[in-house]
Amino acid sequence: MTTELDGPAATDIPTRLLLGSGPSPVPPRVLAALAQPTIGHMDPAFAEIMGETIALMREAFQTANLATLPISGTGSAGMEALVANFVDPGDRVVCGVNGLFGVRMADELERAGADVVRVEADWGRAIAPERLIEAATGPRTHAIVVVHGETSTGVAQPLDGLADACRERDALLLVDCVTSLGGHPLRIDEAGIDAAFSGTQKCLNCPPGLAPFTAGERALDKLRARERRGPSWYFDLALVLDYWNPATGSGGASAARTYHHTAPINMIYALREALRIAVGDDWLPSAWERHRRAHHALRDALAVFGCQRLAPDGEQLHPLLAVSPPADVDEAAIRRGLLLDHGIEISGGLGPLAGRLWRVGVMGEGARQEPQERFVGALAELLGADPAEPLAALAEGWRA
Ligand SMILES: Cc1ncc(COP(=O)(O)O)c(C=O)c1O
Repeated sequence: MTTELDGPAATDIPTRLLLGSGPSPVPPRVLAALAQPTIGHMDPAFAEIMGETIALMREAFQTANLATLPISGTGSAGMEALVANFVDPGDRVVCGVNGLFGVRMADELERAGADVVRVEADWGRAIAPERLIEAATGPRTHAIVVVHGETSTGVAQPLDGLADACRERDALLLVDCVTSLGGHPLRIDEAGIDAAFSGTQKCLNCPPGLAPFTAGERALDKLRARERRGPSWYFDLALVLDYWNPATGSGGASAARTYHHTAPINMIYALREALRIAVGDDWLPSAWERHRRAHHALRDALAVFGCQRLAPDGEQLHPLLAVSPPADVDEAAIRRGLLLDHGIEISGGLGPLAGRLWRVGVMGEGARQEPQERFVGALAELLGADPAEPLAALAEGWRA
């Protein structure tokens, strides 16, 4: 007997091509994984899925860190987990601030009681690593924190010299790689990053809801040496690891998996599937190269309309192209037209850049020629322009 419960879900969700600042397009295989039957979070079959997910995440981060896991929550949960575990009240922390997510990170650190030293650059510019190192020189500094991919401006933060400087000062290097993971060159171990977090909805092509997270031994040593317990029970890494990877948690090598909170089972199916697709497709170096080409091809196409990239050459973040809209155009009306008439989402500027930017995602499945052609064609129509020249520039960029 079939009942209403067996039938298809009623849905009024429109079809969208997601070329904004995230979420990015989610492949049908990932959506299908999300719809698999929910099983128990202590089921041995689920433990196997967790194990595979961790292994795939280590590939994504390019790390051997045992403490690699998806934090339950969006990218911001990863940020909270990073701060709650590795920063104590009174710690002097140098924080790079050159966009909205740097501002948010500094805010998060201040709420945790850290003595935050902000090293700022104009929104749209990277921060010279020497300035971060200089700020960490002198008084005892506990961490340098940077946003690797600043999604509000499309800028990639160079990490050169930061890991060595941190080691010389017995400080941690902590990194937000929400938008860069899987789309912009980053190798956690090679870069000497002590702990980092990301999000599922950018270059990994998964819905939002998990924060891939990784921490190395130096960071875990700091956690073990803590004199008092951290402020967050939910994000307490030692407790979460008792569930995800008991050998690295509070109970030691022979500990059994113990319940901490109910894992978001179906999201973990989705993350595993998204990572399986990525690994099986053209994983990191070629994925990075595809994002680079997609970024430059789209930049060339949009330049035909008069759009200028905010980030100068060499500072651009490949998964996020932030450009000025053409002069004398109502940028919000064009974005609305793209969404409502063409089903294409792009994002506008944030904070001081509101009304002055278009932010176009070049993330995962969005970093391909076909969706970019759709976007460029629709944009030409809305601007009353001939699509031939921008489409030719796009094709040329993809051939280059
Ligand atoms: C660089 C960066 N950090 C943190 C976040 C916060 O992630 P979420 O919105 O998934 O909580 C975002 C979201 O776009 C981001 O781009």
